[in-house]
Amino acid sequence: MKKINTPLLAISMSIAAVLAAGCATQQSHSMHQTSPEMIQKAFAAMKRDFHARAIATMDRLDTDKVQDVCNATGDVPPEEMAAKLEAEQTATLKLPADGNYMGDWKAGEKIAQSGRGMTWRDKKMEPEKNGGNCYNCHQISPQEVSYGTIGPSLLGFGKIRGNTAETQKYAYSKIYNSKAFNACSTMPRFGHVGALNEKQIKDLVALLVDPASPVNK
Ligand code: HEC
Repeated sequence: MKKINTPLLAISMSIAAVLAAGCATQQSHSMHQTSPEMIQKAFAAMKRDFHARAIATMDRLDTDKVQDVCNATGDVPPEEMAAKLEAEQTATLKLPADGNYMGDWKAGEKIAQSGRGMTWRDKKMEPEKNGGNCYNCHQISPQEVSYGTIGPSLLGFGKIRGNTAETQKYAYSKIYNSKAFNACSTMPRFGHVGALNEKQIKDLVALLVDPASPVNK
């Protein structure tokens, strides 16, 4: 792991850790789910220790319906429920009005590297200055040797899937709202929560899909 410096991601990581602990419990005692009491305790600890400062307000600890279901089901909701939640998340997708998904891969690399933004030091929310912290969880360009492994390697993403409109649209949508494809994904919903804007997501799509990007060399 590297460069965890936004509260948003730090919180999603600590929630992921709590849930991972829950999964471990589940595996060793396969008959038991993470108990609601455990989840309540985890949230109580976060509410106790996280203090509102400037733009980093307590509402960051609020969960929405899909997160509640994932917490209550140890991240494995019944199939039908998962499909329903994914359809609801898909309905939130705002795709680029110009129908173009590709930006500049060089700008995308900078965004993927950066963990800046949304901290209490920021005077206001400025998505255009935020990073995506992608290397925190993914291998991406081969030149970057420091990366996390919470998510799958994205090396060769465009080469493997092809530089098609469909691949571009998928990458854009996944970055915009990861839960549209996997209800209990631990990947932040960058577009959905307003952490990254349309231009930044297009730049990230180019990083992953553009044949000129080091990812596909
Ligand atoms: C906190 C960890 C985390 C961060 C940060 C993160 N991801 Fe992910 N990502 C995941 C995980 C876990 C998966 C696989 C599970 C899932 O969501 O389906 C994933 C899946 C993906 C996929 C789909 C891969 C496939 O083979 O279909 C893409 C594309 C992706 N991430 C891009 C990004 C980009 C770009 C960023 C930065 C803006 C990013 N991710 C940031 C955890 C993360």
